[in-house]
Amino acid sequence: MTQASESQAALVGGPQVVPFAKDRPTPRVAPAGRPRVIAVANQKGGVGKTTTAINLGTALAAIGEQVLIVDLDPQGNASTGLGIERRSRRTSTYDVLTGAAPMRAAALATAVPKLWIAPSTLDLSGLELEIGQERDRAFRLRNALRDINNATADPAFTYVLVDCPPSLNLITINAMAAADSILVPLQCEFFALEGLSQLLKTVEQVKTTLNPELSIHGIVLTMYDSRNNLANQVVADVRQFMGRKVYDTVIPRNVRISEAPSYGKPVLVYDLKCVGSEAYLRLATEIIQRERELKAS
Ligand SMILES: Nc1ncnc2c1ncn2[C@@H]1O[C@H](COP(=O)(O)OP(=O)(O)OP(=O)(O)O)[C@@H](O)[C@H]1O
Ligand SMILES: [Mg+2]
Repeated sequence: MTQASESQAALVGGPQVVPFAKDRPTPRVAPAGRPRVIAVANQKGGVGKTTTAINLGTALAAIGEQVLIVDLDPQGNASTGLGIERRSRRTSTYDVLTGAAPMRAAALATAVPKLWIAPSTLDLSGLELEIGQERDRAFRLRNALRDINNATADPAFTYVLVDCPPSLNLITINAMAAADSILVPLQCEFFALEGLSQLLKTVEQVKTTLNPELSIHGIVLTMYDSRNNLANQVVADVRQFMGRKVYDTVIPRNVRISEAPSYGKPVLVYDLKCVGSEAYLRLATEIIQRERELKAS
């Protein structure tokens, strides 16, 4: 299946079209305690989605936010990268999306203060088979997050970052239907813009059918190597094409970033002073700033 037809199928799920008004969950009221939900998405593989979810989550926690990372990739790289062993993943995002457990039951504290993760397992690759015919199949994550900060919940999360798989399938559609906004990592390589228009088209489809409030939070350029002339051209092209949507912060290619997951640590914990950690801290500051501007507008 092509990526376009895959996302199409996830949206409509075969013959019965999902977004009838009566099938929608009740509109999302925004109680003071609701966290901001940001989906880290790009159907291209290996562009830095998981690295960004882990390290942005850590940076946000370091500046005082209460952060939950939701690992929605059956590969489970975000869970592994945060040191969550497979045998500790007793309740996973698969259990949450199939309705077997609430999100709070899946959330595990990490070694980083204020940073939690709902881990994933390979079971998640069977989600489509399991719930693909259900009417609310696209809203499972949204529903699971609705009451996450109920009165007795501790901690009250202020940010939820959803690490998406490299696909525009039902899992990613769930993330987009649940999110306030999308953060798109783009690798500084020749084909960076390829696939972006498909992603933007899917975001538009989700906006018109499942989640009218969805927006693009921003695009973060990753794995930038200043010695590579092409990388500079890619940065210029992406900025020209996407304008202010591109964050000022560019994440450099940095060996410490790639080493950190094998120690089960975010790079900010593995080597706080390296250029990769500094970049993710700057990105977190920029994101908070953008949030303030959004709230003010
Ligand atoms: N800034 C960086 N510098 C060096 N290596 C990086 C950087 N960002 C990511 N990597 C490495 O590139 C690889 C892909 O990154 P990552 O897993 O975050 O991408 P992804 O988009 O989540 O991939 P997938 O689509 O498979 O989920 C990993 O080995 C990661 O450690
Ligand atoms: Mg990943």
